[in-house]
Amino acid sequence: MRAAPINPADLNQIEGKYPVRFPLPATPGFEGAGVVVDAGGNGTTIPAGTLVILPHNLGTWREAVAVKASELVAVPPEIDPVHAALLKINPMTAWRLLHDYVDLKKGDWLIQNAANSAAGRAVTQIARELGHKTVNVIRRAELIDELRSEGGDVVLVDSEKLRDEVKSATNGAPIPLGLNAVGGESALRLANCLAPGSTLVTFGAMSLQPLKIPNGLLIFKGLRFRGIWINKWYDSASKEERMEAFRPLFEMAKRGLLKTKVEKAYPLTEAKAAVAHAAQGKRSGKIIFEFE
Ligand SMILES: NC(=O)c1ccc[n+]([C@@H]2O[C@H](COP(=O)([O-])OP(=O)(O)OC[C@H]3O[C@@H](n4cnc5c(N)ncnc54)[C@H](OP(=O)(O)O)[C@@H]3O)[C@@H](O)[C@H]2O)c1
Repeated sequence: MRAAPINPADLNQIEGKYPVRFPLPATPGFEGAGVVVDAGGNGTTIPAGTLVILPHNLGTWREAVAVKASELVAVPPEIDPVHAALLKINPMTAWRLLHDYVDLKKGDWLIQNAANSAAGRAVTQIARELGHKTVNVIRRAELIDELRSEGGDVVLVDSEKLRDEVKSATNGAPIPLGLNAVGGESALRLANCLAPGSTLVTFGAMSLQPLKIPNGLLIFKGLRFRGIWINKWYDSASKEERMEAFRPLFEMAKRGLLKTKVEKAYPLTEAKAAVAHAAQGKRSGKIIFEFE
């Protein structure tokens, strides 16, 4: 292994709040990248020395693992191990969120909360590539300039005034897609910014608060409420579909995009401190494990 992040889903899994429970003793970690040291067996197509992205179901917080070649995704040589280790969950989720729910055209708007998260930043960058415009909702005003400089068209701090502020920042343009990683009141405020018939896709619940949908949003506004779990997408995608989906992400990564910010890298021997650090809010980036 070369690098593996500590994502919110990893923490949820350790806490027993995730629908995947490996039999104990188990190794956590849903994503990561490593280098093939030995390609044994028959029919392998990935030679030793290749940087690869690992599947999500074997536990990546470890120094080494034996895995079937068919489950690995070979990474182009221009992409470094830390960059590669964080492409599989958030950038891929962002790609799917922008392709699988609403037929967005160039110039269409979308709105998202937790916009400074790894997933949110990937959404902003991919949306820009595709010609869509983003309203990025955050909870810390000090990040406004940073997110604008990364391509966010509109960046706003979440508040009761959100709907009016969005309306004025977008000149009242209809917003057909909302992306919710927070839940609770924040999700509702996003839904209230959407045009009739639009879709709110929930993929995270950082506030741990349930989504309470007022009847009127369903009856009078005809909003659709959907959800995505990227693990399920990986489980049902064929090898060809996975490779096809990674291609545009790799192309962007080669140009320096989709590079998840890292606040601190820990060795595996400091796993306890690393996990405690990752559980803190208001970080400047991910907490990751880096391996020698
Ligand atoms: N469904 C899926 O398949 C899928 C795939 C990818 C990600 N996700 C989910 O998407 C979410 C974001 O993941 P990530 O890896 O991008 O996160 P991340 O980079 O670790 O960032 C966490 C984000 O959550 C915000 N946050 C934390 N606690 C909050 C609270 N109580 N209320 C509002 N915002 C809060 C943080 O804001 P501050 O910086 O201000 O603390 C930050 O924007 C997580 O829930 C994750 O599980 C789901």
